[in-house]
Amino acid sequence: MSKKMICFSIPTYVISVLFIFCSSVTPSFGEFPLFLAGKLRELEVKLETNANSQEKINILLVNKVGELEKKVKQLETNLEQYKEIRKDLEFKVTELEAEVQLRYKVYQIQEKISNLNGIRSGIPRTCTELREADPSLASGIYSIDPDGEGVGGDPIYVYCNMTSGSTIISHDSESSYDVGHCYYPGCYSRSINYNASMGQLKALAKLSAECHQSIKYDCYYAPFEFDKVPYAWWNDRDGRTKYFWAGNNTDGIHTCQCGINGNCLDNSLKCNCDTAAPIQLVDEGYITDKRVLPVTVLNFGRTHLETTTGIHTLGRFECSGSMPFNYLLPTSCKDLLFSGHTLKGFYSVMGFEMMETVYCNFAKLPEDEGFETWIGYTDVKSASVHFYVQRNASFSAGGTPIPFDFARVNMGNAMNLTSGVFTAPRTGVYFFSFTGTAQFTASPSVWLGIGLYLNGGQMGLSWIEEANITARKLGTLGLQSTLNLKKGDQVWLKISDMASAVSLFDDDHHHTHFTGFMLEEETFASL
Ligand SMILES: *[C@@H]1O[C@H](CO)[C@@H](O)[C@H](O)[C@H]1NC(C)=O
Ligand SMILES: *[C@@H]1O[C@H](CO)[C@@H](O)[C@H](O)[C@H]1NC(C)=O
Ligand SMILES: *[C@@H]1O[C@H](CO)[C@@H](O)[C@H](O)[C@H]1NC(C)=O
Ligand SMILES: *[C@@H]1O[C@H](CO)[C@@H](O)[C@H](O)[C@H]1NC(C)=O
Ligand SMILES: *[C@@H]1O[C@H](CO)[C@@H](O)[C@H](O)[C@H]1NC(C)=O
Ligand SMILES: *[C@@H]1O[C@H](CO)[C@@H](O)[C@H](O)[C@H]1NC(C)=O
Repeated sequence: MSKKMICFSIPTYVISVLFIFCSSVTPSFGEFPLFLAGKLRELEVKLETNANSQEKINILLVNKVGELEKKVKQLETNLEQYKEIRKDLEFKVTELEAEVQLRYKVYQIQEKISNLNGIRSGIPRTCTELREADPSLASGIYSIDPDGEGVGGDPIYVYCNMTSGSTIISHDSESSYDVGHCYYPGCYSRSINYNASMGQLKALAKLSAECHQSIKYDCYYAPFEFDKVPYAWWNDRDGRTKYFWAGNNTDGIHTCQCGINGNCLDNSLKCNCDTAAPIQLVDEGYITDKRVLPVTVLNFGRTHLETTTGIHTLGRFECSGSMPFNYLLPTSCKDLLFSGHTLKGFYSVMGFEMMETVYCNFAKLPEDEGFETWIGYTDVKSASVHFYVQRNASFSAGGTPIPFDFARVNMGNAMNLTSGVFTAPRTGVYFFSFTGTAQFTASPSVWLGIGLYLNGGQMGLSWIEEANITARKLGTLGLQSTLNLKKGDQVWLKISDMASAVSLFDDDHHHTHFTGFMLEEETFASL
């Protein structure tokens, strides 16, 4: 076959020579001319066919060129269209750039407006803040606004000690005042008027790290307290009566500085002036509980004798330092407004121990009804804590937490199976529940008590007791508890008491259940 193909591709004039080699079926000599004629015919047909093919190819090529020309035209049209689109896009980009410019202008204007507001309300909240802003300022009278710019009370005038950074508020009773002569408890009473509203003073105390006020009482046979009867006291910022004249005593215990130091004239008393003796004495100290300061009223009595004298000297209300940031977290819509929020909506604020959700309608003023609507507590948990553990074998060891064999769930790994001790990973309220089965064998008297322990202290007890048992008997124990736990507090179950031959029964059906979970986290405990 390959030989034949070679032959047909060779021009006619060499065929006569070649055929000898080409043909595999060589004809006999007599037949030769006939064969040649046939071959020639054959070749002619082939040539004709080739010519036809060539023509066909030519036609195809012409068609193809036509097609390509069309395509080129199409592409040219497309290119024109793309140019149009590009123009459009360029225009859009210019438009966008203009918009960005405009937005930037708006932003700049807003900045200017807040700066203008700043001129009106750029008043510091405390002298500490003022000193931080400009350490070169000299001590003197300054205007501050502890409860915030534009809200609450008007700014107040205070003395700023720029050495200590403390804010000092004066009042109308700074001199020494003789209480005169009178007998009954509180028969002498003097109201203290500060050069600022109580709201501003409270705000100042809240913002400051510490506050104090000095008080001195010069006495001659003029006790604060005599025969357990209080004759003298002061009223705190909310009008509540207080009997301590120094320190940070909120338990209502009557004391003076010498009582705290343990060096009063009479060792059995808490104040020098309480000494029932006609001697000139003095009690002097600093009240440091910023949650109740400042002093609003001073009350004295039992100065009725001609010889007695009582002279009080109350210092200015002084605060310094700044509270850590969490005390400045927003607790209301007012705080949010103050920190720059203006869009009405739902917000999270710092409530008592937990997060709260409020609706703030900033279209209203803080004093208006409906400015703030309390929605409810927000269930914030920084860690998921729950467990359910079981035993699969009886237990009867006393004096040790009951261990468990496996956990159905133990989210947060707060429950240690091996030790049987649960460790609170967060401060909050936790719920615990235990049920178990007591197993008694024949005995005249049997009992089993299982206690729930918090850091070793028994919180509760589940108790079962039987008498005159003649055969094996089972009984149910149960205990539920809701506890306030601090981070790191430990809770466990323990056999608190048991008779001999008694056990907390269990087998592979799992009779012992101990489950617990965090109900509520004290959100701000870790701040
Ligand atoms: C008390 O406040 C007034 C303004 O209300 C101020 O002018 C004055 O200086 C203040 N006095 C003191 C001692 O701070
Ligand atoms: C200011 O504070 C410094 C440092 O605590 C103190 O020594 C000074 O007496 C204070 N000055 C006034 C006027 O209270
Ligand atoms: C005053 O006592 C309370 C309660 O014990 C405490 O939280 C506070 O830090 C104390 N303040 C000072 C200044 O000691
Ligand atoms: C109890 O459960 C643990 C853990 O699944 C297993 O290792 C142990 O063999 C079980 N004991 C009994 C007595 O079933
Ligand atoms: C669990 O308690 C056991 C025994 O007290 C102790 O060896 C182990 O370290 C504790 N596991 C964890 C994760 O604290
Ligand atoms: C227990 O049995 C004893 C003797 O059989 C009897 O004296 C006693 O009263 C029984 N106690 C009870 C609680 O049934």
